[in-house]
Amino acid sequence: MSFYGKNIVITGASSGIGEAVAKEFLSLGSKVILIARSIDKMKDSFKNYPAENVSFYSFDLTNLDGIEGLISQIITEHKQIDILFNNAGISQFGQFQGSSLKVINDIMQLDYFSVVYMTKYVLEHMIKNGTGHIVTNTSVAGKIPSRNRTAYSSAKYALHGFFDSLRIEVANQNIDITLVAPGRVDTGIGISALTESGKPYGKNDRGHSNGLSVQSAAKKIIKAIKSKKREAIISKWSDIANLGIMLRNFFPSLYFALAKKIKA
Ligand SMILES: NC(=O)c1ccc[n+]([C@@H]2O[C@H](COP(=O)([O-])OP(=O)(O)OC[C@H]3O[C@@H](n4cnc5c(N)ncnc54)[C@H](OP(=O)(O)O)[C@@H]3O)[C@@H](O)[C@H]2O)c1
Repeated sequence: MSFYGKNIVITGASSGIGEAVAKEFLSLGSKVILIARSIDKMKDSFKNYPAENVSFYSFDLTNLDGIEGLISQIITEHKQIDILFNNAGISQFGQFQGSSLKVINDIMQLDYFSVVYMTKYVLEHMIKNGTGHIVTNTSVAGKIPSRNRTAYSSAKYALHGFFDSLRIEVANQNIDITLVAPGRVDTGIGISALTESGKPYGKNDRGHSNGLSVQSAAKKIIKAIKSKKREAIISKWSDIANLGIMLRNFFPSLYFALAKKIKA
């Protein structure tokens, strides 16, 4: 499968994994349609790429009621969406008991509902076109639980349930669905993670800087899309997440005993 000339919509493209995946697609000759709130940051980051291959949409994805209009504007301006990469997300660092319900709600709005809304309107367009590929960035937190992430983990687990079900429904309509679940990737995600009060954590000290580089993550994600994988774990081979998934699946009592001791 060639990505040359394909229109790829990417959410959360102003930094981290979304930005790196967009650049990787550009290097393969794709046209990228980028969505995030920080439009100046995106314009600056992509200034050296041919303008005809990059489009920017400044949009806050928690404005769920605006998503239909956003997608209809993109379809009017670009005619076709070949691949949707649902990537925008926000992390969490706080225990449930101390957290305001607003924090739980805010995380679910972006990490779960915005993805469902994006998928609703893009899927309709793809089905009319008779083809399309929806790719969603979840997390190993959607495969294994840990403390301080009740809302984040719930949103990411929910995405697995949602897309694994949807894949079955659209199996005969030439729509592919891929879930990519990163372990730790070296981005600034820890900085914007919501704490119990709703204030951003503001630091990047939770091991992400020892994780996979964004460039390697982007290459692995594109490989998973190319081979139309149902699901791919995106991590260093040495990432403890790989061991965690194995223990959770085959030795759950041991997993939960160890998870109580890990503070991350
Ligand atoms: N880094 C990791 O270790 C890791 C591990 C597992 C999963 N992930 C997942 O990977 C995805 C990307 O994260 P990242 O690590 O690349 O972090 P990041 O650098 O913080 O990127 C997050 C992106 O989401 C966008 N975003 C945040 N709130 C938004 C909103 N309300 N509306 C529109 N866009 C919004 C941000 O753009 P603006 O602020 O400009 O809007 C930014 O472009 C997330 O879904 C995350 O859960 C990351």
